Amino acid sequence: MKILLTGTTGQVGWELQRTLMTLGEVISIGRNASHPMQMDLAQPDSIRRIIREIKPDLIVNPAAYTAVDKAESEEELAMAINGIAPGIIAEEALKLGAAIIHYSTDYVFDGESNIPYTESNEPNPQNIYGKTKLAGEQAIQAVGAPHLILRTSWVYGLRGKNFLLTMLKLAREREEIRVVDDQIGAPTWSWMIAQITAQILSQALGNMSDFLADKGGLYHLTASGYTSWYGFAKAIFEHDDSERTLQRLLPIMSEQYPTPAKRPSYSCLNTEKLYNTFGLFMSEWERCLELALNSNK
Ligand SMILES: NC(=O)c1ccc[n+]([C@@H]2O[C@H](COP(=O)([O-])OP(=O)(O)OC[C@H]3O[C@@H](n4cnc5c(N)ncnc54)[C@H](OP(=O)(O)O)[C@@H]3O)[C@@H](O)[C@H]2O)c1
Repeated sequence: MKILLTGTTGQVGWELQRTLMTLGEVISIGRNASHPMQMDLAQPDSIRRIIREIKPDLIVNPAAYTAVDKAESEEELAMAINGIAPGIIAEEALKLGAAIIHYSTDYVFDGESNIPYTESNEPNPQNIYGKTKLAGEQAIQAVGAPHLILRTSWVYGLRGKNFLLTMLKLAREREEIRVVDDQIGAPTWSWMIAQITAQILSQALGNMSDFLADKGGLYHLTASGYTSWYGFAKAIFEHDDSERTLQRLLPIMSEQYPTPAKRPSYSCLNTEKLYNTFGLFMSEWERCLELALNSNK
């Protein structure tokens, strides 16, 4: 199986690059469109050209415009990458008879719920990033190529830009850190997202299109359990024993930490559909965090 993989400099893409190697020939594509074998998701022509050249059996697309606050002032670019490119990828996949795995976000929801959102709950994004990611989901669904859209949340890992690494860095520089305690979600380790993706794909090997025609669609993929950003930070410092200057970790309310993009106050996702369909169980977020921190030792 020939797998075209985007976003390999990102958190999830980097993990996927290693995990998917066991399932087929992985062709990793970066974003420098002037390079003959790279594609910029903001440029439809480069997407079409590369996919037609490589003729993959499967396209895995973790690449995205993920700067949630910056998206508020760069809507056009965020929409091109998150909203339009996935539809173009899907059109090309359909022509080739290829399948697509795409990733989306808990930020498609408005946060008004107090029970975990299921795949059939109505999205109502509150920020530009969420709107563009929802547009990407809808574009793939409209094309009708065999696909999986995996919505995840609060992604962290030991590489890239994420909350875990920010906390560890701040703890070496500051005595006090204040973190919002009124946004609830499920921190999800990039490694786990890649593992679950590979486990789903291994069930489909040899018969990808039929498998996805039957079981494809939208799924929620996050660690189980939930916490606030403050709870996440507290757990990081409980499980990490590196040297730090930090003396005080304080919970604050979102109003005390204004950001350009509004975040949902509750964005837990129900993962039962993933379990019921593929028999895959999501580990608890704090256990994953512990494993992630230990994987560095
Ligand atoms: N991060 C989160 O907390 C979170 C939460 C929920 C859902 N998700 C979703 O999960 C998926 C993976 O996220 P992540 O955290 O792994 O993202 P990430 O670490 O921010 O990586 C994004 C990747 O996309 C690439 N990219 C950005 N613009 C591009 C363009 N115009 N053309 C081609 N590639 C481009 C980046 O390449 P460069 O290195 O060249 O910029 C990078 O490899 C995304 O779909 C995201 O929306 C993420």
